[in-house]
Amino acid sequence: MTPTIQPSRIKSVTAQIEDIFFENYLKYFKNAEAKRRWSIYHDIPWDKASNDSSDLTADIVQSFSAVEMFLPDYTSKIMELVRRSRGRAWFQSNWGYEESKHSMVLEEWLLRSGKRTEEQIKEFERTLLGAEWELPFDHPRQMIIYTMIQELATGLNYTNLRRRAEEEGDGALTGLLKWVSADEQAHYNFFRKGVKAYLALEPEETVADLKYVFDNFAMPAQYQIPDWDERGKQIEAAGIYGPMIYVKKIRIPILNDLGIDRKQLKAAGVPSHLADQMADRAEEKAEDADAATFDRTHSLPSGPAPLRPAGRITIVSR
Ligand SMILES: [Fe+2]
Ligand SMILES: [Fe+2]
Repeated sequence: MTPTIQPSRIKSVTAQIEDIFFENYLKYFKNAEAKRRWSIYHDIPWDKASNDSSDLTADIVQSFSAVEMFLPDYTSKIMELVRRSRGRAWFQSNWGYEESKHSMVLEEWLLRSGKRTEEQIKEFERTLLGAEWELPFDHPRQMIIYTMIQELATGLNYTNLRRRAEEEGDGALTGLLKWVSADEQAHYNFFRKGVKAYLALEPEETVADLKYVFDNFAMPAQYQIPDWDERGKQIEAAGIYGPMIYVKKIRIPILNDLGIDRKQLKAAGVPSHLADQMADRAEEKAEDADAATFDRTHSLPSGPAPLRPAGRITIVSR
């Protein structure tokens, strides 16, 4: 008798991860449609764009717009890598739309503020022609880690630039950077949740990849933009982004955010003493949260009636 093979009811790890990605994408999209759709033409106070911003600010805006100019490479190459994942591929399409607005709005500010002419912008774009961005990692799990790091770093770049724009009093630049930073934060969250799904289902491989990608991370397009050395120094000198900021504001906070345990923190490359501190703090927080839940959900049994004040003893002197 030929045995009948029952199809397995247990989904493969890949299928489980895919389910999570798609569910995450649906939430991401719903939220984006409800709260985060903005228009270059209607939502930026362009009348507040002025020529008074410093030249350094304008140079930095142009550097960031140059990074966003490699969008066709980011979208096509990442899409090819994640094509089989509906959640990631659909996300990638939506992401491409949002990122395209970033390069357009930054360029628009350069023109409206009078910091660049059309001709100067075209000339700058010509210097970028011919260069092509390549995937820095070739595994989908490593790439989701890479994009998670890159989105938080990009968001921080824009938030720090916004602070500068605010100090220099340009309402248009401040306003547009608020929208752009919100997009970058949402991108980071989508990728972070994806990395958490990998951590839950393929913990060892994911922790090893975290270490590998963090150790080899570089912001995109640095090698494609001809004078990046100079531009990178300007950005660092302005306190917007640099190696110190990468470690303190990106690498450590992300590893904290992922909620990995002491052993995993060390395996992901966090120095032992720091990993212990981080894990201790996380454990304390978890204990506090548990205690708070206990207080909210348990009513204490009523105790004995409060004691009445003791009666005063009156000493009567005779
Ligand atoms: Fe962007
Ligand atoms: Fe982004």
